[in-house]
Amino acid sequence: MLAPEYGGDGGKKVGVCADKQGPIAAFPAHWAPNALLAYRGGQFPTAYHGGFFIAFHGSWDRAPFPQSGYNVVFQPAKNGKPAGDFIAFADGFAGGAKEPGGAAHRPSGLAQGPDGALYVSDDTNGRIWRITYHGDIAQGLEAAPAPAQTAGRAKEAGPPEGVNPEAGALEGKSLPVPPGATDAQVALGERIFNGHAAGGTCASCHGANGKGAPLAPDLTSGKWLWSDGSLESIREVIAQGVAKPKEYRSPMPPKGGAQLSDSDVAAVAAYVWAIGHQNK
Ligand code: HEC
Repeated sequence: MLAPEYGGDGGKKVGVCADKQGPIAAFPAHWAPNALLAYRGGQFPTAYHGGFFIAFHGSWDRAPFPQSGYNVVFQPAKNGKPAGDFIAFADGFAGGAKEPGGAAHRPSGLAQGPDGALYVSDDTNGRIWRITYHGDIAQGLEAAPAPAQTAGRAKEAGPPEGVNPEAGALEGKSLPVPPGATDAQVALGERIFNGHAAGGTCASCHGANGKGAPLAPDLTSGKWLWSDGSLESIREVIAQGVAKPKEYRSPMPPKGGAQLSDSDVAAVAAYVWAIGHQNK
């Protein structure tokens, strides 16, 4: 089907895609495959022989869906052709923060050792993993357990060497609190904004901590396109979204496309006010 960026309607319109070859295997949008490896080793169970590992660098631009990817999947194959659905082979590289600026590790390369071990490289912190297997080679495919859902900050599920400094950038630095709001609202708003609570999607367009990204403006500049900088007007823009952006190519859906309650919207508005007034 035709993607909305190319004139599609989000599900039905086929357009110029009608005369293109269909996919032989499909993976979620914007996971960003960075490497593909045909497994030719003998160490892993036979179910893996002749199949493909794919390293997904992880998410960007998935709003209104949550950020994801940051994993290595295995695509089973028969005679060189995909056979069956892919499974997550190794997951949890990002740690608690699923937003590109905050991910602890991002798979970017794959290689196979002469002994059949699989190597996975990460281009965020330069780590290399070596994955070996020492069991029964008749063992079937088994998906990796989903990484624990971390409702809290990245820190709580932190990898041993710590997380990207961006992930907790505002911690310890106290933000101003807008008149009529509370500290707790600003703190909750920060977590929603950066995708650590309530399925917030804001950072996927506005960048980590609202510092701006290709899809949406910097909210810390103190310059406003829609709101007048007051808490109430910021809350209104967030609740209604921006159907026709003035300077960016695609709209902001109401509440950023997430299912935020009124109190979530109030909290994230307090946070946006705070980052927009931090040097005032
Ligand atoms: C799909 C991308 C996208 C998402 C997700 C998104 N925004 Fe936006 N946001 C935009 C765009 C685009 C604009 C308008 C820019 C323009 O007019 O050129 C905007 C504008 C705004 C404004 C108005 C700024 C001003 O200058 O007055 C605020 C406030 C805002 N967003 C906050 C949020 C918050 C909070 C969230 C999360 C609940 C969020 N946005 C999620 C894309 C997004």
